[in-house]
Amino acid sequence: MTGKRILLIIGGGIAAYKIPQLIRLIRAEGMAVTPILTRAGGEFTTAMTISVLAGEAAHEGLFDISTEAEIGHIQLSRNADLVVVAPATADLMAKMAQGLADDLASTLLLATDKRVLIAPAMNVRMWHHPATQRNLALLRDDGILMIGPDEGDMACGEFGPGRMAEPEAIMAAIREALNVSLRPAPETRASGPLTGRHVIVTSGPTHEPIDPVRYIANRSSGAQGAAIAAALRDLGARVSFVTGPAVVPAPEGVEVIRVETAMQMRDAVEAALPAEAAVMAAAVADWRVVNSSQRKMKKDGTGQPPALEMAENPDILAWVSGLKAQRPLLVVGFAAETHDVIAHATAKRQRKGCDWIVANDVSPSTGIMGGDENAVILLRATGAEEWPRMSKHEVARRLADEIAKELG
Ligand code: CTP
Repeated sequence: MTGKRILLIIGGGIAAYKIPQLIRLIRAEGMAVTPILTRAGGEFTTAMTISVLAGEAAHEGLFDISTEAEIGHIQLSRNADLVVVAPATADLMAKMAQGLADDLASTLLLATDKRVLIAPAMNVRMWHHPATQRNLALLRDDGILMIGPDEGDMACGEFGPGRMAEPEAIMAAIREALNVSLRPAPETRASGPLTGRHVIVTSGPTHEPIDPVRYIANRSSGAQGAAIAAALRDLGARVSFVTGPAVVPAPEGVEVIRVETAMQMRDAVEAALPAEAAVMAAAVADWRVVNSSQRKMKKDGTGQPPALEMAENPDILAWVSGLKAQRPLLVVGFAAETHDVIAHATAKRQRKGCDWIVANDVSPSTGIMGGDENAVILLRATGAEEWPRMSKHEVARRLADEIAKELG
């Protein structure tokens, strides 16, 4: 990431207090930040703080850029590798959706030829308002990338979606947005060893609801699944990407099917069949809450926590592997283990009936879960092959090559 430049547009929301931390994270990766403050943004954080941390003066007004004569505002947006809007307020999103350009931030957003990543932050009612949802749909259609918003207690005292994603999550989304392999490679997309083949990839965590505002989740970022989908796409495959609520954005050029729960993921995989290959990279929750509530669970004053009743989720990998008529030619599973990796993964391959297992050690000390690298062992019926530690993108490319070889 060293040498890349982020144009960071800071909107007017209380979440702007997290922006200094985001700037620190971006700069720690060797990237430069060009900060832009909207008028409202300047009310929540100061140009001085932002400028000091960014190591560059924050730009504020459309007409007061001292360097206008030399570079101009259009150049400002063209010099960046990625435009990040955080916090992206309802107002900024509306301006972007409509193509308004009445201040420096909106003008830059209209003038840029770079990818744009937004981190929305607003009151929960503003988020749910049909106007915001309409604008969101327009922005998605325009190819704008999005991270968050998260769900939780809000500064205004309400609860729900609308909190800006944490700086670490925004940083992960920036890394992914800058990673060229997530963009379709036009020269390879039309033809490659997998042209004409359909592959289903599952990815990310699943969320199992407890009540309308709470759920059970896991730490999967969806990075490995997204990279695999992108690598298969680059070999020419038509990819159905079935993803839970992941941190890492879905790659372009694949069919994205978004789900929340394991049950929805199973249904989405079924709807996507038939396929020549299936790669199950999702970290599917093993259990769901059967007595989940339609209404927010309240404390009843007795001090007794609610008793959650759990049931095992369908094993999607085992189910696909056991299909009679529609079984893909090649079914690949993952095995996330913390000890005795080969023994457990070998047993898992046999138990689930898949052809290959990509096994990895996810002990916290490896930093693999949520990290950029992976060290895997590819297990087939014929034996185990240990790959050296490499980036998740490199693992994805090698796996896609192996899949192409196998399908012939
Ligand atoms: N998997 C799945 N559906 C489930 C659970 C897991 O499709 N309900 C898939 C995952 O996508 C992965 C593989 O099964 O490809 C193994 O996942 P893992 O979490 O390692 O294994 P578990 O089935 O949870 O087994 P264990 O509890 O023994 O670790």
